[in-house]
Amino acid sequence: MFSFLKTVVVVALLIVVGVFAYRWFGPEQETHPDRSKMPWMNKTLSPDERADMVLDQMTFREKIRMVHGTGWGVLKAGDPIAANSNFAAGYMEGIERLGIPGIDLADSAVGARMAAYQSRYATLLPSTLGAASSWDPASAFLYGSVIGRELRAWGTNMSIGGGVNITREPRNGRNFEYAGEDPILAGTMTGNLEKGVFSQHVMSDIKHYALNDQETGRTIVNVLLDKKAMRESDLLAFEVSIGIAEPSAVMCSYNLVEGDHACENDYLLNQVLKKDFKFKGWVVSDWSATHSTVKAALNGLDQEMPGDDGYFGRALGLAVLERKVPMARLNDMVHRILRSMFAAGVIDDPPVRTVVDPFRGRDDAQHIAEESIVLLKNADQILPLKASASSSIAVIGSHADVGVLSGGGSAQVDAPGGNAMDPKPGGSGWTEHIYFPSSPLKSIQAHSPQASVHYVDGTDTAAAVALAKSSAVAIVFVNQPMQEEMDAPTLSLPNNQDALVDAVAAANPNTIVVLETGGPVSMPWVDHVKGVVEMWYPGIGGAQALANILFGEVNPSGKLPVTFAKDDSQLPHPVVPGLEGVTGGPASHRDIKPFDVTYTEGAKVGYKWFEATDKQPLFPFGFGLSYTNYAYSGLTVDDTSRTVHFTVRNAGTHEGTEIAEVYVALPAAAKENYKRLAAWQRVKLAPGESKEITLPLHPLSLTVFNTEQNGWQLLPGEYTVAAGPSSNDTPLKATLHVQ
Ligand code: BGC
Repeated sequence: MFSFLKTVVVVALLIVVGVFAYRWFGPEQETHPDRSKMPWMNKTLSPDERADMVLDQMTFREKIRMVHGTGWGVLKAGDPIAANSNFAAGYMEGIERLGIPGIDLADSAVGARMAAYQSRYATLLPSTLGAASSWDPASAFLYGSVIGRELRAWGTNMSIGGGVNITREPRNGRNFEYAGEDPILAGTMTGNLEKGVFSQHVMSDIKHYALNDQETGRTIVNVLLDKKAMRESDLLAFEVSIGIAEPSAVMCSYNLVEGDHACENDYLLNQVLKKDFKFKGWVVSDWSATHSTVKAALNGLDQEMPGDDGYFGRALGLAVLERKVPMARLNDMVHRILRSMFAAGVIDDPPVRTVVDPFRGRDDAQHIAEESIVLLKNADQILPLKASASSSIAVIGSHADVGVLSGGGSAQVDAPGGNAMDPKPGGSGWTEHIYFPSSPLKSIQAHSPQASVHYVDGTDTAAAVALAKSSAVAIVFVNQPMQEEMDAPTLSLPNNQDALVDAVAAANPNTIVVLETGGPVSMPWVDHVKGVVEMWYPGIGGAQALANILFGEVNPSGKLPVTFAKDDSQLPHPVVPGLEGVTGGPASHRDIKPFDVTYTEGAKVGYKWFEATDKQPLFPFGFGLSYTNYAYSGLTVDDTSRTVHFTVRNAGTHEGTEIAEVYVALPAAAKENYKRLAAWQRVKLAPGESKEITLPLHPLSLTVFNTEQNGWQLLPGEYTVAAGPSSNDTPLKATLHVQ
């Protein structure tokens, strides 16, 4: 009897252990699943409920599999590519038996990357910094929807773009992938962009969290900044964008912040992102930015990329079994990924492969570019070009005969037909300067068929001068190629282009400079030329957009989302931190030893720094000209609703769109000697037309961050409200009273 009982107990125990082991480690049945038998496919349930139901069915091994990627794949020659990967930057295997697809994390900051590998097409959009010059959330939404639409056509379910690091360092190699120096503007534009991605049922991402404000030393720099300044500057841009987009993921960055790597930083990930911002998605590491298993897991990282078997594979499994990382934490990681998949619709409405529509993409890109181009100088109204002045046009420099420049690194989009200046087979190299086939020369010719339009490449100054001398107008194209992993060593244009502009300007009084830059540059020649047009990296519709602006078919409306300093000496850090004493060669992060950077300017980034230190920049934040002019009047402030009301009138003769800007200076108790952007609106006006506009002041522009209370605080007192066409031209003033 006793031995029978013993047998029963042993058998029962074996069954329990067996079931338990099966649930944790059991074989994965990669069968063709019947979705109708999966209760989590019920769309009426919430993403969280659905995620929990799936989680409940998952084995331990399956859970671990979801929190890391399958390796470098296409990004590193020779590395294996996962069977179902769509050649994106990273891949997480799915769980077929539970109807959960894999995730293709596709780089797509300014358009989808890596088209060449599979002979695909992707639209190159203007740089996001350019697009931010539109100050137009609708344009940002369109931008994201182009990316989402094309990724979807590729069969890809996740975009990893969404860069929102503010322009604390104007020489940062990645500024072109970001949205400028103001946290509210950058956050609003990036948030709407990611909403656009999401609208296509493609998962979205916001990056690089946080304070990855320079590429110099990006993996070794330790950023020191007090919490109040962080929250009111860099983290505020994330707070605003995450609030708008509710992105699927946030990518933590390479750098350290206050001694801890960003991907294992309890303050950044647990306390701020997940608790204060109430972020429900998952934290994905930048590529190889994971530095530990237990610390990273406990401090908030949810997924390691690209991740073959680094810290979040077997090592994490072991850490969970050894209870160094609670099972609940692993479940939380997986829950966050699953709920984001359900929320984005990639399970209910997965991407269906189709042919990308390049024409629609080009039209959208051109529309965004037309809103992005900023007219910086227009002496004697040299622009728009008139038939008489444009009888002969010299086009000089920057391969303007064949194309427009694009940004490099992981934001690089492959050009159709290859690099327009030097086509060769394959994808784009990491450090190549890629020109897209949108020829300014041809577009200028198309707008002025009667004129003689000639091109020289600018490498021979004498030839450029000779052409300029014999032409009625000289248009000099200058460029600043920028890319990830490298900052510009200075604000100066590279390759002696300043000397080229000077020489051309000396030869022809009607010289116009067109800039194709990643960010702000200095312009020592600005007083010698009549026109300056910033077209950024303008995307595949760039040449047509530019020509439409040069010839007045489109009235420029863009305004700078970054301050243009006169030169490096005006910046908070006259030398890029980490590059002090480094001479020659590119400003790569690889050549220097670990270092701290104390961002002494604190929250005073960009125009706030210039105002607080009483410096006059070359071109201020928010500045941009038009072919018409606008008059502002009648500012009133409603203390209860905290809204402003004023009138903008088109006082000129062209139809145009004005970006009306509103700033606030906080009461003395805030101890701030600068103003903050608090509202703006694009206003379209016919000649002579007036419009009254009412705008709410952004609540986070009015508050200070109180570190003791860990919250935003509205100080009582008088707030100076100022409205006008740019940060240093605010003719209207009024007072907001806060009790
Ligand atoms: C970049 C990320 C990018 C990743 C994958 C990293 O070098 O910092 O922005 O998404 O590579 O390509």
